[in-house]
Amino acid sequence: MRAAPEVLDLKYFLRSIPNLFKEHCVIFFMYQWDQLSKKYSLGDYTNKFILIPGILNNVKKKKGLILLDLGCGNGLLSIIFHEEGLKIVGIDISKEMIKLAQIQNPGPKYIHIDGTKYLSDKPFDIIISNMVACNIPKLDNLDEFFLSCFKNLKISGKLYFTNSATEFQKTCNFGIAKRTYPNNITEGCKFSVELKNLDDTWIGPFANYHWSENTIINSAKKSGLNLIKTVPLLSTSGQDNFPEKAKYSLYIFERE
Ligand SMILES: C[S@@+](CC[C@H](N)C(=O)[O-])C[C@H]1O[C@@H](n2cnc3c(N)ncnc32)[C@H](O)[C@@H]1O
Repeated sequence: MRAAPEVLDLKYFLRSIPNLFKEHCVIFFMYQWDQLSKKYSLGDYTNKFILIPGILNNVKKKKGLILLDLGCGNGLLSIIFHEEGLKIVGIDISKEMIKLAQIQNPGPKYIHIDGTKYLSDKPFDIIISNMVACNIPKLDNLDEFFLSCFKNLKISGKLYFTNSATEFQKTCNFGIAKRTYPNNITEGCKFSVELKNLDDTWIGPFANYHWSENTIINSAKKSGLNLIKTVPLLSTSGQDNFPEKAKYSLYIFERE
């Protein structure tokens, strides 16, 4: 006699949960940032004093250029370039972050979409992607991320990219960030991050993934993006509790 189908279905469903998670883990991160958006409104110290100044010092701010802010969050970078006269499209996998961008930093065009799947009808002169790849949980998705950057850039267009520099930060739990690593740091391993907001509240904990510099450069190269420059980023805060040496880098890639 056949078992009742609903019993079979339930067993099948429970067994397939780990696979469902594996297959769709990018979707999980959409929800992670939906939750974090509630705590992220003012932006964090690392962004303000290290990453954003580093990006602004290096990206050409010429009026009329079209720029994609991939993983734009609440639009902190998009709005700066928008005010400089560039044409901005900001995209983010989190609906809540896009809503926040529209409210807090209106002006640029914001789209709610997974950046690894995005294909614009018009290619961009510049793509910036600040602290997004460290949210990507699988190497296949990282490859898709760079392929999407490649497809969305004009020939000779540039990608300005930053990443959570796990190798350097392991010894660096300074007062604006806390990180908890597994004993063995391997490619794609998950670690927990908390960041301090500008109003001294904490954002997090949330999950990040370790992608080494080599993995990043190789994945970009596979898609047709060549590394043309690595710029070490130093803190501009002058505060004592910031590390003296660069812990982050800005990677500048060019489409062949
Ligand atoms: C650390 S925040 C950085 C936000 C922004 N780039 C900035 O500089 O303020 C990471 C952002 O990446 C977004 N993100 C993560 N994975 C993404 C994906 N696959 N496509 C688009 N956005 C993504 C998150 O939703 C989040 O808003």
